[in-house]
Amino acid sequence: MPSVKKTTFRSAYEMGLWLINDGGTFAQPRTFNFLTQAWMRNVMSYLIGRDGHKRTQHPTEKPELLTRRLVEIFTNEGDIVLDNFAGGGTTGVAAFKAGRNAISIEREANYIAMIEKRQRAVEARLAERRDDERP
Ligand SMILES: C[S@@+](CC[C@H](N)C(=O)[O-])C[C@H]1O[C@@H](n2cnc3c(N)ncnc32)[C@H](O)[C@@H]1O
Repeated sequence: MPSVKKTTFRSAYEMGLWLINDGGTFAQPRTFNFLTQAWMRNVMSYLIGRDGHKRTQHPTEKPELLTRRLVEIFTNEGDIVLDNFAGGGTTGVAAFKAGRNAISIEREANYIAMIEKRQRAVEARLAERRDDERP
């Protein structure tokens, strides 16, 4: 978590937990979609928002592109991605753009409003794009 106390170095890394419901068995191979070689590195570095400018007022906004890559690697189209600490809703937006379904859980009313607004904007943009592609 970003905490500036000015008594030590600030962490340059954030730990993420990615939990997969594989039906309780290790027998089934987990989804691991190998993407372009250049993206499949064990250190992934992406800017937050657009060109490093945050898209939301949430203090711990995550890079949307990074989240999207993780969604594309670990899930398939039509899967459900759950973010039970949704914050500004980046995971849900990334999942939706990648053709997945998303469930976002957040307790702060102002962040929920932010998530709804972002989600509506993404849905509108995707609908526009689909209209453009119609013959
Ligand atoms: C680190 S932020 C989430 C960042 C987000 N996952 C993303 O990808 O951008 C954590 C969020 O979890 C929310 N939160 C904390 N405890 C919660 C709870 N018990 N139920 C729902 N939301 C909670 C906080 O309000 C905060 O917005």
